[in-house]
Amino acid sequence: MASSRHWTEHNIPDLSGQRVLITGANSGIGFETARVLAQRNAHVILACRTEGKAVEAMAKIRALYPRAQLQFLPLDLASQASIRDMVVQFREQYDTLDLLINNAGVMWLPQSKTVDGFESQLGTNHLGHFALTGLLLPVLMNTPGARIVTVSSIAHRGGQIYFDDIWLDRSYGRQKAYAQSKLANLVFALELQRRLHAAGAPIISVAAHPGVANTNLAIPGFEQGGSPLLARVVGLLTPVVAQNPVNGALPTLYAATSHAVEGGDYIGPDGIYEMYGYPRKAYATRRSRNPEIGRRLWDLSEQLTGVRFDFTPAIGVRRG
Ligand SMILES: NC(=O)c1ccc[n+]([C@@H]2O[C@H](COP(=O)([O-])OP(=O)(O)OC[C@H]3O[C@@H](n4cnc5c(N)ncnc54)[C@H](OP(=O)(O)O)[C@@H]3O)[C@@H](O)[C@H]2O)c1
Repeated sequence: MASSRHWTEHNIPDLSGQRVLITGANSGIGFETARVLAQRNAHVILACRTEGKAVEAMAKIRALYPRAQLQFLPLDLASQASIRDMVVQFREQYDTLDLLINNAGVMWLPQSKTVDGFESQLGTNHLGHFALTGLLLPVLMNTPGARIVTVSSIAHRGGQIYFDDIWLDRSYGRQKAYAQSKLANLVFALELQRRLHAAGAPIISVAAHPGVANTNLAIPGFEQGGSPLLARVVGLLTPVVAQNPVNGALPTLYAATSHAVEGGDYIGPDGIYEMYGYPRKAYATRRSRNPEIGRRLWDLSEQLTGVRFDFTPAIGVRRG
């Protein structure tokens, strides 16, 4: 991969004619990603769970770039029905999608379940995006050169996929559940690339992580009774060690738009412990790259969500 030294959003070419869907685009890294891609003339769909927040985010972007092409679609990744509804709405309007950015996430929530009975962090962060990607695959396959970018985390390094206790019912831990979900994001992105490659698909899957960025991510977990000591430590350290969300979005933007990126790449910041800096290839643990874990997680995710990926090549590419 070519050097990405000092790569910034200013390196992104004009994206006129490209359609992008970003989950969780109203806040933090998703918002900055949406802002930059809209500024580069992409049509940006903000797939968010709270309409008011998405409307506010679009107003902020339009205040900066009045000609920004923005659209809101309602999406709650903690509900498989909501995901299916959103995809129906999308497909009623469009046949192609150039970029899917699986960005939304929750962190360190107390033990809880989604409406489908999935543990909330794995259910939202991984199973939600798994289903969304599978349901959007036909339109992505209909868009040669399309990319799927899935946002993982340094936290994947401490994660395991607990196949014998996937909801962690026997020993729930907030950090443990988050690490499992972020490992699952990376395992999924890499396994998806293996399958796309095997199918000869004209599209790629890549992963990214933002390092440590000062966003709203930790707030819900603490509001829902997180450890006061951890809240204090995070509150004190975040402004010192974290980069702003503008820089936190750079690895996602690089993964989404750089011509130097190849399928299966994992992009993160180049600073100490990949916490901050400019985008470059990041460290993915051996576990995250293990094809057997990839296959098992894929089978389980299909079984749980009922979504099967169809890698059949699109017949006659349609634009629009
Ligand atoms: N910040 C970091 O240091 C850091 C480090 C590593 C990885 N990450 C990853 O970066 C991604 C973005 O996080 P962030 O830091 O930008 O946090 P953030 O500011 O809290 O943004 C998270 C976004 O996800 C949305 N979201 C949460 N649950 C959802 C659901 N059920 N359905 C749809 N959308 C949902 C949120 O919506 P609401 O606003 O409605 O809650 C929000 O838009 C996450 O995948 C996170 O794991 C962040």
